[in-house]
Amino acid sequence: AFVVTENCILCKYTDCVAVCPVDCFYEGPNFLVIHPDECIDCGLCEPECPAKAIFSEDDLPDDQLEFVQLNAELAEIWPNITEYKAAPADAADWDGKAGKLQYLKR
Ligand code: SF4
Ligand code: F3S
Repeated sequence: AFVVTENCILCKYTDCVAVCPVDCFYEGPNFLVIHPDECIDCGLCEPECPAKAIFSEDDLPDDQLEFVQLNAELAEIWPNITEYKAAPADAADWDGKAGKLQYLKR
């Protein structure tokens, strides 16, 4: 499956949602996740993310490995999102900032 990683937090651009053929994104207050059992590995979302936050599980950077479990866990409790929506007004300010996991809201 593909995995949404830390740089999505507080950016949440949602361009990924617009291209997913199986609607397997789930939305929290400031982060999105992919349901690993629903993702068909088409790869369409990865190049769409302006924050470069999406990776194939096989290509995950070492410091993002915990996001495999986070995507699986949060996809079970957050609502499905199927349409693009405007990003937070300060999304660009957060893009690329380190240590955003501490700001994840559930
Ligand atoms: Fe959806 Fe394809 Fe991305 Fe999986 S890889 S989340 S199926 S767009
Ligand atoms: Fe997040 Fe990138 Fe999608 S910032 S909402 S993974 S387009």
